[in-house]
Amino acid sequence: MTALVTGGTRGIGYAVVEELAELGALVHTCSRNESELNERLQEWSGKGFTVTGSVCDLASHPQREQLSEKVSSVFGGKLNILINNVGTNFAKPTLDYTTEEYSFLMATNLESCYHMSQLAHPLLKASGVGNFVFISSVISLLHTPYGSIYSAAKAAINQITKNLAYNVVFQRFLQSIDGKEFLDGVAKRTPLKRIAEANEVSSLVAFLCLPAASLHHWPNHCC
Ligand SMILES: NC(=O)c1ccc[n+]([C@@H]2O[C@H](COP(=O)([O-])OP(=O)(O)OC[C@H]3O[C@@H](n4cnc5c(N)ncnc54)[C@H](OP(=O)(O)O)[C@@H]3O)[C@@H](O)[C@H]2O)c1
Repeated sequence: MTALVTGGTRGIGYAVVEELAELGALVHTCSRNESELNERLQEWSGKGFTVTGSVCDLASHPQREQLSEKVSSVFGGKLNILINNVGTNFAKPTLDYTTEEYSFLMATNLESCYHMSQLAHPLLKASGVGNFVFISSVISLLHTPYGSIYSAAKAAINQITKNLAYNVVFQRFLQSIDGKEFLDGVAKRTPLKRIAEANEVSSLVAFLCLPAASLHHWPNHCC
């Protein structure tokens, strides 16, 4: 299996890279910080994992295109798993976000996932067995004083995931692509912080990418 995990140098993305690589996947990841990325790549190489990486700002449309081209070249035009993990938040009262802050949060949390899914779709199709996984947040479902724009972006991700699962999976299980979403709580030991451990999240993400979690194994959905 081949996988693109966005934002794999820290937190949940880091744990997902390790989880998938331990299961034998070839993984490509990205982040904006070149030196941290190189440190991680060396660390993974030392553990015997096959992980490559790109410096990329997922909030940038052209850089997302470059990332997709890189992934295509690294994995021979095919991809099995896209983990849309990159996300960020900062808390302000709901009416106080500036236009720039609103655009930044939407570009990083929502547009990046949507556009990466569009770009990865031909590669996932080409692999014959493709998985989209979106990392959402429990505050996409609740009111929050901690980030209205972030939670709105995550709520939009929930809806995109459902629509993608319907449009892509249910149209004849088009090329075996499943759309999956994971509403994590608040993961400890990452800058965004606190309820679950990042490696508890990553185990579930890895499970979602296994054949056993595929809709193809749920006979009732074939009717
Ligand atoms: N942690 C939680 O409690 C929690 C709760 C609910 C949902 N989530 C969701 O889980 C996901 C991961 O969260 P986390 O806490 O693990 O985050 P994190 O520790 O802050 O790590 C984020 C990762 O993404 C990279 N990244 C951030 N912005 C980027 C950008 N514009 N372009 C490329 N890479 C970027 C970071 O590297 P650079 O900064 O070097 O680019 C880093 O590798 C997010 O979608 C978040 O919303 C987290």
